[in-house]
Amino acid sequence: MTTTTTATTLEIEEVTKSFGGTRAVDGVSLTAGRGVIGLLGPNGAGKTTLLRMVATVLAPDAGRLRLLGLDPSDPAQRTEIRRRLGYLPQSPGLYPGFTPFDLVDYVAVLKEHTDREWRREECRRVLGSVGLEDVMHRRIRKLSGGMRQRVALAAAMVGGPELLVLDEPANGLDPEQRLQLRSLLAQVPTVLMSTHNISEVAALCQGVYVVFSGRVRFSGTPAELAGLAAGRVWEDDSQDPRAIRSWVTATGAFRHLGEPPAGAQVVAPTLDDGYLLLAREEHR
Ligand SMILES: Nc1ncnc2c1ncn2[C@@H]1O[C@H](COP(=O)(O)OP(=O)(O)OP(=O)(O)O)[C@@H](O)[C@H]1O
Ligand SMILES: [Mg+2]
Repeated sequence: MTTTTTATTLEIEEVTKSFGGTRAVDGVSLTAGRGVIGLLGPNGAGKTTLLRMVATVLAPDAGRLRLLGLDPSDPAQRTEIRRRLGYLPQSPGLYPGFTPFDLVDYVAVLKEHTDREWRREECRRVLGSVGLEDVMHRRIRKLSGGMRQRVALAAAMVGGPELLVLDEPANGLDPEQRLQLRSLLAQVPTVLMSTHNISEVAALCQGVYVVFSGRVRFSGTPAELAGLAAGRVWEDDSQDPRAIRSWVTATGAFRHLGEPPAGAQVVAPTLDDGYLLLAREEHR
């Protein structure tokens, strides 16, 4: 097995995918080397469609993908990519009659790991890494939602992938398991993940892409995303009609986005502010 990680593990160039009349992904380019890249965007923005193409589940209509230095449109190279890639779908279809152990073992077989003894050790390792060692021989249908999500996460981690594609991985995870997810991701050279949780991006990601209507509207570091709103956030104790967007914070103060009026109490921007400002400009 090749273990070289190229400088850019992931190269996406002008990729497009339509479903009937819907252009779900519309000329997206993205590159990633080592580290965790986050994908943000509203419901229907095209995140899952993009991730499915990166996971080689779906072929693009146009554009070019290079994964781990290989071309997924070539069947032989696609097989090699699948062996070295882990994928957690948004709604993982787990076989409810399987146990977590059976399921992870099955994924290992699909990845052509033929050594039974090795597979057994590997199943124990990945299920242990998501804290499921105690339930690995129970039927999946008897597990809680968060536990099922962790089974799917374990399946994505089997064989130590070089590239991990995660569609809303923290969905349903309790706070402790969310923390655990961080150390799990630290074991993988390159991770591309979608999330609706902006604080997760701040905690986990070195790079972030924001997608609206199938197009990349922002790419940069989390700090740069927050920086979009620098000097454009202020707080006071009442509504301000001059703001392009206002909301009430946990302390009961009003937080405003836009051009602050003279004398306003300008505050440091967060990632949420940067994202909301982008979203606002998108809908104007
Ligand atoms: N298999 C499909 N058939 C038809 N339309 C689809 C299909 N998959 C996605 N779409 C459409 O493509 C667009 C993008 O969907 P996608 O699931 O990629 O969005 P998303 O960003 O993952 O949204 P969410 O945050 O809700 O998960 C939507 O308009 C959706 O209705
Ligand atoms: Mg999705």
